[in-house]
Amino acid sequence: MRHEILIVGMGGFGREVAEYLHALEQHWVIRWVDDRNPDADFNMQTAPFDSERPTIVAIGNPELRHFMMDAAVKRGAQLPCFSFDGAIVRSRPTPNSGVIVCPHSIITAGVKLRRGVQINLNCVVGHDVELGEFATLSPSVDIMGGAKLGYQVFVGAGATILPNVYVGDHAVIGAGAVVVRDVPDYATVVGNPAKAIKR
Ligand SMILES: CC(C)(COP(=O)(O)OP(=O)(O)OC[C@H]1O[C@@H](n2cnc3c(N)ncnc32)[C@H](O)[C@@H]1OP(=O)(O)O)[C@@H](O)C(=O)NCCC(=O)NCCS
Repeated sequence: MRHEILIVGMGGFGREVAEYLHALEQHWVIRWVDDRNPDADFNMQTAPFDSERPTIVAIGNPELRHFMMDAAVKRGAQLPCFSFDGAIVRSRPTPNSGVIVCPHSIITAGVKLRRGVQINLNCVVGHDVELGEFATLSPSVDIMGGAKLGYQVFVGAGATILPNVYVGDHAVIGAGAVVVRDVPDYATVVGNPAKAIKR
């Protein structure tokens, strides 16, 4: 039996998620929701958000994802959590909190996966890590045991965050950075060891 699913965001990440969905046993009929792409089936006003059709908000930018998730929920969207092909998830996100774990990522024990967390391909999240609401992990990120990420943190591809480090709300971690000490709210850090850049 085929069921409809709504994907909000027809960008690169949304199209990747569509491919992961095709690989699942359940056969989904994908309906696209995007305010800017004329090829989408719906925009946010016309989309049939309801309990029959699950919704995935597939947007990498934490702030925009939060905004779109709230807008979709207000209109009745259900946002189940998904993990795809070969992901190993040993910690439970809150049901219906829209958490996405992409192929080959590993979430170990005692990890807090808060609402709207998005984990791209091939990440490793160590024991007791806390991922704040709407945190985004880009591909191949390594977050070591006990680290804590705040609200709407964006972690660039290939970055490493050392054990027990705290990354403040809205911080941006550059691609390839090695974060060895705490990062303040709103800071952008790059390099090894990661240092703040002025914006
Ligand atoms: C950190 C980042 C957000 C900074 O973007 P920005 O604010 O536009 O900054 P700029 O590109 O103007 O760079 C500012 C300085 O930081 C340096 N820099 C930027 N990103 C860097 C990185 N990842 N590592 C090391 N240095 C970096 C630049 O060379 C520049 O140095 P300079 O002032 O000496 O010339 C961005 O470069 C980045 O790494 N984004 C992550 C992308 C990613 O992983 N996306 C995932 C897709 S799935």
